[in-house]
Amino acid sequence: MSSMRPAAAVTIQDFTSEVNGTALAEDALDGLTRPFKELPPKYFYDSTGALLFDQICDLPEYYPTRTEAALLKEHAAGIVARTGASELVELGSGYATKTRILLAEMDRAGSLLRYVPIDVNDAVIRGVAAELTDDFPSLAVHGIIGDFERDLCRIPQAEGPRIVAFLGGTIGNFPPGARRRFLREISGLMRSQDRLLIGHDLVKDPAVIEAAYNDSAGITAAFNRHILRVLNLELGANFEPDAFEHVAFFDPGHEWIEMRLRATREMDVHVAAIDLDVRFADQEEIRTEISAKFTRERLTADLAAAGLELDDLLTDRDELYGLSLSSLAD
Ligand code: SAH
Ligand code: TRP
Repeated sequence: MSSMRPAAAVTIQDFTSEVNGTALAEDALDGLTRPFKELPPKYFYDSTGALLFDQICDLPEYYPTRTEAALLKEHAAGIVARTGASELVELGSGYATKTRILLAEMDRAGSLLRYVPIDVNDAVIRGVAAELTDDFPSLAVHGIIGDFERDLCRIPQAEGPRIVAFLGGTIGNFPPGARRRFLREISGLMRSQDRLLIGHDLVKDPAVIEAAYNDSAGITAAFNRHILRVLNLELGANFEPDAFEHVAFFDPGHEWIEMRLRATREMDVHVAAIDLDVRFADQEEIRTEISAKFTRERLTADLAAAGLELDDLLTDRDELYGLSLSSLAD
């Protein structure tokens, strides 16, 4: 009976309004005036972008989501038992579909008290908070609408043992230096009893990886082009998204997928909000995302650089995807 629940069950803090409009303008100015143009991936995820990403997760070629879900189903009970966690903090939580597997297990174990999701998308934070408190009547949700690269300091003090979850392979979307910096920031929030749970896509046959980012239905291409629509909408730019081709390829040297948008002809674009004229040569590319693929070695080294120790790396039988569990190094 949701009407009898105390109002305090949901707390939402929104830190985007302070800086968001200007952040997009500054990032667009910075990224589009570089010799090799680039846009930060966090701007994919407005309400349309979040829906497109959700469609990607259901694609037959996109193995990460279903493999991660299967790993969570298989191992949630073990993870919850060994952490005794009463709180789940989740970075880039999105629709929190897979998160429910962990919450349900914490609920079954009788330890579930609080869920603390952080995401740039305000509608998904608010929607998920409402749904989860309906489904888990004893749960408190403290939702943070913000940028996890800036707002980790807003995460409330722990009230019990914590799992910090970073799912979906989003860790791979950081360039290597920023990835270690981010991990170090996370480890700064952790205490000895807390555990970090990360979902990693693993290095494998490049053909399998490339198919996941070049689906036959064209959803990934639509998602990639969507970032130009966000600039049109938010900054009054006049990009023609359909004049850009979706490009995704595995870079074996870096062991990452690189997503680009390639101009199919010479173009001049104006970005009204920052009064910027941008020229594109025919075939010129904008980098929109990298998605790094991991080996146990790379993962262990990244964690060590952040003062963390790998406790376990759980993988599916085909070693497509891994869930790592780590804790503060002694
Ligand atoms: N965890 C979900 C969603 C992954 S998609 C899953 O596993 O399916 C990446 C999510 O991270 C999106 O919900 C996006 O809005 C969020 N996100 C991306 N960059 C972010 C940033 N800098 N700060 C906060 N959230 C971010
Ligand atoms: N975190 C997801 C990944 O690295 C993001 C993603 C999937 C993505 N498909 C994409 C980003 C296509 C841009 C374009 O797999």
